[in-house]
Amino acid sequence: MSLPTQIVPSVLPADLADLGNGCRALEEGGVDKIHWDVMDGHFVPNLTFGPDVIAAARRYVSVPFEAHLMVERPDDLMHLYIEAGCQMLIVHAETTPHLHRTLARIRELGAEAAVALNPSTPIGIVENVADLLDMVLIMTVNPGFGGQSYLPTMELKVAEMRRFLDNNGYENVSIEVDGGIGAATIAGAAIAGTDVFVSGSALFKYPEGLAFGVADLRSIAETARP
Ligand code: DX5
Ligand code: ZN
Repeated sequence: MSLPTQIVPSVLPADLADLGNGCRALEEGGVDKIHWDVMDGHFVPNLTFGPDVIAAARRYVSVPFEAHLMVERPDDLMHLYIEAGCQMLIVHAETTPHLHRTLARIRELGAEAAVALNPSTPIGIVENVADLLDMVLIMTVNPGFGGQSYLPTMELKVAEMRRFLDNNGYENVSIEVDGGIGAATIAGAAIAGTDVFVSGSALFKYPEGLAFGVADLRSIAETARP
């Protein structure tokens, strides 16, 4: 277990009328970074956060932000999310024919670069861009909405990705899972080789509150990780 375990909330379930204080509560709850689900209503049916919303929340906390760009034209938008205060951009492999150029551009702009793979997208798409990656996001739901059921079949994909990265000198590239992650599912993803865990609805549903939920998810993941 070399890469540290990271618990990362999606803010989709937060009170969207009070996002600054919502981010502050997450930071105080001990999260490692905050995951902004950016949706354009085209790549996925839902429509969510523009860069100005993220820039407004940026002033409330110092914890890193990552933007999960579920958008059809990431190359046109990505500089805006970096200017808004995101330290990492996650682009979907399915949204750009020039993935190598897009990832290189994100790094040129000063942010960390990650690629997201939908459930049906094979890991082979990463092979020729791994040198440009800080993280790979293996989607454990079909993107577009929070509160969906976890896809356990993605655990084989996580394990395959971890083997590829470790066998090719990319041990420091993280694997993130996103979708349906909670107390009942996080161990399976951890055992498979995940080190960064996005949780939205399950984390916000803890009756004991966010800090308890973050600690519980972290404990389960760290216990399960090989
Ligand atoms: C789905 C998003 C996920 C989702 C996570 O398209 O990328 O980040 O909001 O929420 P839960 O944990 O509720 O599945
Ligand atoms: Zn997401």
